[in-house]
Amino acid sequence: MSTQITDNANASVAQNIARLNLLAPESTCSTDLASNPWDTPAGYGPGASQEDSVPAGYPVQGSIPEEYLEASDAELDTRIIAAKETLGDRAVILGHFYQRDEVVKYADFVGDSFQLANAALTRDKAEAIVFCGVHFMAETADILSREDQSVILPNLAAGCSMADMADGPSVQKCWEELTALYADEADDGRMPVIPVTYMNCSAELKAFVGRNGGLVCTSSNAATVLEWAFERGRRVLFFPDQHLGRNTAKAMGIPLEQMPMWTPRKELGGNEADTLLDAKVILWHGFCSVHKRFNPAQIAKAREDFPGVRVIVHPECPMEVVDAADEAGSTDYIQKAIAAATEPTAFAVGTEINMVNRLAAQYPQHNIFCLDPVICPCSTMYRIHPGYLAWVLEELVAGRVVNQISVPKEQQGDAKIALERMLAAKP
Ligand code: 13P
Ligand code: SF4
Repeated sequence: MSTQITDNANASVAQNIARLNLLAPESTCSTDLASNPWDTPAGYGPGASQEDSVPAGYPVQGSIPEEYLEASDAELDTRIIAAKETLGDRAVILGHFYQRDEVVKYADFVGDSFQLANAALTRDKAEAIVFCGVHFMAETADILSREDQSVILPNLAAGCSMADMADGPSVQKCWEELTALYADEADDGRMPVIPVTYMNCSAELKAFVGRNGGLVCTSSNAATVLEWAFERGRRVLFFPDQHLGRNTAKAMGIPLEQMPMWTPRKELGGNEADTLLDAKVILWHGFCSVHKRFNPAQIAKAREDFPGVRVIVHPECPMEVVDAADEAGSTDYIQKAIAAATEPTAFAVGTEINMVNRLAAQYPQHNIFCLDPVICPCSTMYRIHPGYLAWVLEELVAGRVVNQISVPKEQQGDAKIALERMLAAKP
């Protein structure tokens, strides 16, 4: 699949942005970022600031040759197309739904994180998998791909702030406290607790869950994964996204009182022992800064402005937002729901703005808009500017692999077990 953005589609995007700006005259989300990303602060995480600290051991993007920073959009376009043609089947470009249009238009596959994890496996001839997503997605592709294939992240600073909210030592400490607490429970043939990690985490944590009888989930198969875990365990430790964990468990009928939150660096995560003994799902204190911005008042406003509007949100949104929406689902769910609508419909969508604007352009018969009119893009994903893509592709043409993501050997095996359990749990 390849997504081409036509002039007509761009016009629709512009109209949509203009409408959003009308709704939000106080907007602080500058579109200048798109044309001049080089001058933004070199911080870390969505809403990056100089104060954000880069996690220990995190890859740091070095400077790339000036020619890529200075090239015009048209020149980058010509160079990327030429490099792609020269490489042919030797390279495959994957693009996440949240990636900017200027990059998505070169992708051979566009999809959600579950689909892209699968897509990485389908191009046998590809020596290089160029992942236009974020760091944890590239790590996942490296774990699932063959040893002779290299996975490339065009800008190493494209991380995920949610993934960074759960680090190896904190999760290990939590695990040790929980296993000690559950050690005296009667044996009923099930494990006291099964670790489940959202795909949005480091390879180190995927290996951790694989090693400890657990598995990975994405937003499209979280319910299936929790069912898998409850067949084998009395409880689940779910990290890093508290919202996906809470929304999924609530929909399965688990009461909120049995979903305590684990706050790292507090004894027993800030809980009483009895609460953890009675728990069904222990939620890690992590969240996505982009989806946390949505709130029920925006939904009420959308319903007031557009009677009959269909409100669809991503399950990374807080519970009150998911409860007030008509539907919640992964990025793939959102796109399929809109594609399936036969009558012109107003859709208020609670997810990242690049994806919403693209859907608005693809389906001009509908009125598709973002629930939060001032929402910014996923700023870390946004760091994959076409200049970086041109650079990694031209380096490949010259026989050099730059920005390779290599998961350490000692994590590969266990992380693969956790991912293969996930891939078997179909959405
Ligand atoms: P999907 O699994 O729906 O692609 O979401 C990934 C993600 O990072 C959403 O913020
Ligand atoms: Fe991470 Fe949120 Fe960006 Fe998804 S949208 S990659 S969870 S920061």
